[in-house]
Amino acid sequence: MMEDIQSVLLDQQQLENIVKELGERITRDYQNKDLLVVGVLKGSFMFIADLMRAIKAPCRVDFMAVSSYNNGSKSSGVVRIIKDLDKPIEGLDVLLVEDILDSGMTLSYLVENLKARRPASVRICTLLDKPERRKMPIQPDYTGAQVPDEFVVGYGLDFAEKYRNLPYVGILKPSVYGG
Ligand code: XMP
Ligand code: MG
Repeated sequence: MMEDIQSVLLDQQQLENIVKELGERITRDYQNKDLLVVGVLKGSFMFIADLMRAIKAPCRVDFMAVSSYNNGSKSSGVVRIIKDLDKPIEGLDVLLVEDILDSGMTLSYLVENLKARRPASVRICTLLDKPERRKMPIQPDYTGAQVPDEFVVGYGLDFAEKYRNLPYVGILKPSVYGG
């Protein structure tokens, strides 16, 4: 598995620091709110597990699963809800948690979709941001780290469902995805 990784972008210690800092900011900002953390599966599962532990304010968690990448590194441009939230979100302060903000198509769609359900607020927290690739005018409220325009895997992020278990974020060798 390691031989498929070109270089490590964020090691375990860096990820820990990022999560701690994000958790502190979110804790401050949501002190008197009704926070619902919404994880976008599957990529955010590891990040959200760590982030929840770093949030020292009352909160709930729910998940959505969407599909925009079909078993590869290229976006199909289509966002499909595979699993929706379990409960209504009216009046709640929703924090959408993503693994990576790339073109912005997934999050633009999700933000609009969630806003139609009349929450008190919707904000975005993304572990990684690839601003060079943005197609939609969307800005994350909380960003862990900006990354270059390379395909990254690990810490929840996959290529063809693999590499999610890596405890760090690394750049995938282009030869692996035929680049
Ligand atoms: P968009 O383009 O809608 O993409 O902002 C968001 C989703 O695309 C996936 N994505 C990646 N997954 N390495 C990954 O493992 C990457 O470099 C990458 N870039 C985009 C990801 O699932 C994210 O939720
Ligand atoms: Mg994802």
